[in-house]
Amino acid sequence: MIIAPSVLSIDFCNLNQQLKEVEDANAKWIHFDVMDGHFVPNLTFGPDILKAFRKMTDLFLDVHIMVSDPVFFADVFIDAGANMITFHYEACKDKEACIELARSIRSKGCKAGISIKPNTNVESILDIVNEFDLVLVMSVEPGFGGQSFIPEALNKIKKLKDVIVNNHYETLIEVDGGINQETGKLCKESGADVLVAGSYVFKNNIKDAVASLC
Ligand code: DX5
Ligand code: ZN
Repeated sequence: MIIAPSVLSIDFCNLNQQLKEVEDANAKWIHFDVMDGHFVPNLTFGPDILKAFRKMTDLFLDVHIMVSDPVFFADVFIDAGANMITFHYEACKDKEACIELARSIRSKGCKAGISIKPNTNVESILDIVNEFDLVLVMSVEPGFGGQSFIPEALNKIKKLKDVIVNNHYETLIEVDGGINQETGKLCKESGADVLVAGSYVFKNNIKDAVASLC
């Protein structure tokens, strides 16, 4: 299981120490939530902050862009050092636009992910899964940390897993929102490969919290 602690809940007054603890906890990824105040009602980080993280750590930078203009911001965050750009299905004009953006991201040497919000059916993306390195199932409404896990996400993970296994795809399944030891276990049993956790990791002992999710 890959654990991706979410920077949204990191203590920025204590950034160096917290990042070091994430590395010592053996988390391999760090999740970076970009919000534009339009696609979601919250505003977070720009590319200069990602550049600073790139200098500070060798962790895999998993960038989740919750923005209305994913085509523009994908390039901005690739240039800033992202290893993975995950954009929202709901922010694209249509499926062809999703595929076009994924191909563009991958052609620049970055991995591409697609995310679906809680009210989006997983069936909407099942036929384009092979275009992506990762599918991110949102288990809360995107925008804020600290919300409760929506159990319907588990059925989406199972359906995705079936398609991925049956077709021998290499696409990873990531889950984001309300992840703790219990919900993380349910996601793992349903077929998730990557767990994003913000408040659970940073409001507890980082090392213990990451270990409990593995
Ligand atoms: C929410 C973000 C999440 C957030 C998760 O829109 O995409 O990555 O950090 O926070 P927790 O783990 O606290 O639910
Ligand atoms: Zn996220």
